[in-house]
Amino acid sequence: MDAATLIAELRALLDERGLLTAPGDMEPYAHDWRGLFSGTPLCVALPRSTQEVSAVVRACAAAGCALVPYGGNTGLSGGATPDGSGRQVVLSLSRMAAIRKIDVFGETMELEAGCILQTAQEAAAEHGLLLPITLAAEGSARIGGIVSTNAGGTNVLRYGMTRSRVLGLEVVTADGQIVDGMRQLRKDNAGYDWKQWFIGTEGTLGIVTRAVLQLAPMPRYRVTALLAVPTAAAALNVLRGARQAIGDTLTAFELMSGAALELVARHQQLRLPMGDSPWFVLLEASSSLAGLRDAVEAFLGEVLEREEVSDAVVAESERQEAELWALRESITEAESKEGPSIKHDVSVPISEIPAFLTAANAVVGREFPGTRVNAFGHAGDGNIHYNLLVPQGTDSSAVNALVHDVVVAHGGSISAEHGVGQYRVGELLRCKSPAEIALAQRIKKALDPRNLLNPGKVLPIQ
Ligand code: MLT
Ligand code: ZN
Repeated sequence: MDAATLIAELRALLDERGLLTAPGDMEPYAHDWRGLFSGTPLCVALPRSTQEVSAVVRACAAAGCALVPYGGNTGLSGGATPDGSGRQVVLSLSRMAAIRKIDVFGETMELEAGCILQTAQEAAAEHGLLLPITLAAEGSARIGGIVSTNAGGTNVLRYGMTRSRVLGLEVVTADGQIVDGMRQLRKDNAGYDWKQWFIGTEGTLGIVTRAVLQLAPMPRYRVTALLAVPTAAAALNVLRGARQAIGDTLTAFELMSGAALELVARHQQLRLPMGDSPWFVLLEASSSLAGLRDAVEAFLGEVLEREEVSDAVVAESERQEAELWALRESITEAESKEGPSIKHDVSVPISEIPAFLTAANAVVGREFPGTRVNAFGHAGDGNIHYNLLVPQGTDSSAVNALVHDVVVAHGGSISAEHGVGQYRVGELLRCKSPAEIALAQRIKKALDPRNLLNPGKVLPIQ
């Protein structure tokens, strides 16, 4: 089938706002938000229901045309950007944004894939419940993308990755079948847990159309503190001490280099509430039991005395909490204003963080002089954004290979939370064992034999 026939067919399936074909209208769907990846969609389909998604998938399958699922376009690996062939249909779920149900007894939420994460968080909060997936892009990121990329963020230490919040899913498979697994069950060992095949696989095995998420009670008390620490190793001691002193109330433990916060101060005009330091930690604890603040302050007193922490500020109001979090959440934007950068979203076993940083700094300094390290991340999860500010024209694949070899040598992963998208396909092939890649390819072949769902993402085109 030719492109014009497919477009006519899609137009007949969808309402008058359901299909974009004009280059101007398709422009936002043609590239990622950082402007690193770009392509040319054949058209953009905006279905309003799962049935319409299914109809679009069936029409594309009949035409042998590939589909690129598209959420809030906040990804960092080019997973939602089409290729340059002009033959891929972008499928935006943005018009399927309803929150269908909140169950206050089971603490669950049922919603459509296009719902914006922050909207879902606010709806849960109205019922005294917490949707504990928290990330800088939550004002734009959509649930389908969050699930499809198994998004991480700043609360993983306490609440786990998105995968651990998903109780039920509805997906549309490559042949257009609707599979309804919208169960609200915490326990369900009845056969394969097939929803896992669609979480974190970036739309390469099926399209997530609805989800049931596990919520948590909204904690009544929260304490946020910024700590200055002399070294990454000292930060780990503070993490261990915090786990022992305040246990599971520790919700976030974010590590930021002094260089990262210097960028924030300069580009975002945000003021640090303390003097310079090689490293900083943003710590958050939350609980519904009273006494949290006393416990955190007592703990901070101890680490200050042991000189694992050289300075500490505890937020006194919600405004101050927001100001401390703004420092952390503005790093990415400040980095992009500084100039070209190469991002590495890596994880290593937590105890390896200091050794990884030392080794990576050494090889980068030796092989790429003039490069500045902007390291920060979710140290409580072993996830470091080892981003590098590079001179214009630096060969990113050589830099990636160098850093990733250090990651692998420390038992780490080359993609902790940003996914593989199109950006890391080559590195994934290099860093994972052939047996693991072959296993993934067998699953892809079984669920999408014609390679029509997000081809070239996560795995190479076969
Ligand atoms: C963050 O944690 O702020 C982002 O995942 C990191 C990034 O932009 O590299
Ligand atoms: Zn992150």
